[in-house]
Amino acid sequence: TYVVTENCIKCKYMDCVEVCPVDCFYVGENMLVIHPDECIDCGVCEPECPAEAILPDSDDRATPWAELNRDYAQSWPNITRKGEAPPDADEWKDKPGKKALFSP
Ligand code: SF4
Ligand code: F3S
Repeated sequence: TYVVTENCIKCKYMDCVEVCPVDCFYVGENMLVIHPDECIDCGVCEPECPAEAILPDSDDRATPWAELNRDYAQSWPNITRKGEAPPDADEWKDKPGKKALFSP
C-alpha cells in the first residue's frame, strides 16, 4: 500500500485524489491519508504530489505514518475531488518537523 507522510501536513495540495482509481483518500483538517485496505498499489499518486508526501510502505520513511493512515482513514471523510490548497501551502512545502502540527 501507499502511505501519506509528514510532507502533506499544511500543504494538502490534493492532486493525489484526482488520479486515484479507487478513491481511497480521506481528508482531515490539514492532511490526507490513504486507506491501506482500499489502496491497490497502483502507484500513480506518488509522482503527482508536489510535496513528495506519498511513499510506498516499503520505504522506511513511510513506516512511522502507516498506523496514522489506517486509523484516520476510518474516521475522516472520503475525498475524491481536488479542492483549494491552503493559501500558505507553498510556504510549508519541504519544511521539516511538521508532525507536531498534525491536526486530527
Ligand atoms: Fe490510489 Fe493508487 Fe495511490 Fe493507492 S497507489 S492511493 S490506489 S492512486
Ligand atoms: Fe497531500 Fe500531496 Fe495529496 S500534499 S493532499 S499527499 S497531493
